[in-house]
Amino acid sequence: MASFGNAFSSSIGKKLIMGITGLFLILFLLVHCFLNSLIFFNDGGVTFNTGAHFMANNWIIRAGEIVLFIGLLAHIYQGFRLTFENQAARPVKYAAYNGKANSKWYSRSMGLLGTLILIFLIVHLANFWVVSRFTGIPTEDALGQEDLFAVMRQSFHNIWIVILYVLAMVSLAYHLLHGFASAFQTLGWNHKKYTPILKGIGFWYSILISLLFAAMPIAVYAGLVN
Ligand code: HEM
Repeated sequence: MASFGNAFSSSIGKKLIMGITGLFLILFLLVHCFLNSLIFFNDGGVTFNTGAHFMANNWIIRAGEIVLFIGLLAHIYQGFRLTFENQAARPVKYAAYNGKANSKWYSRSMGLLGTLILIFLIVHLANFWVVSRFTGIPTEDALGQEDLFAVMRQSFHNIWIVILYVLAMVSLAYHLLHGFASAFQTLGWNHKKYTPILKGIGFWYSILISLLFAAMPIAVYAGLVN
């Protein structure tokens, strides 16, 4: 049992946890982005509310939510540990170390980018998840469903929230640009033919997901989605 524990506290063990939880979060973001994109039907949020209602009342999804939060916490915890340990291991910068030549700036700033996303996530969960699960949604839509879209509309009428979301999505794009490829590399999925394809998918996934997420608060604030 001790050796099992040691395996996960070793350097490669921590990277494995980051990779596995990271891929799980990538999958979550895909579903989350798709469901939120239902607001673009521009039908007073009815389609979006129907999707949210289905998610909230499906026990498989609710059980998945517990796994999601465990995965999220593990990813954040191990991310901080890896960042601090990497810094402590190299208190004095190597004389010949040239970060720019060896890696992209965002690959060296995963801890910082992750922290910006964490700040966003705290505000985000307080705005939506806490309201939807705990404090309750006061209004109903045209179909008599809980009007989560009204909560979104109210939230995105605050310009500071919109700015926070857009900045967070820039951080998310760079975090994903490194994270997607890195997760597969850590898991040892290296292939002459398939790795370049996977890198291409990772690139477009990172850009499109972040753009779509950023478009939501902008569109609601600008009154393009009602
Ligand atoms: C404009 C972009 C986004 C919008 C409009 C949005 C909207 C929402 C809404 C409405 C909920 C509550 C769902 C419910 O309780 O039924 C929610 C929950 C959540 N969001 Fe987002 N979200 C956005 C971006 C993100 C991003 C980028 C992340 C992660 C980095 C994220 C992570 C979460 C998590 C972890 C939950 C709680 C779990 C869940 O309810 O599924 N969201 N979001």
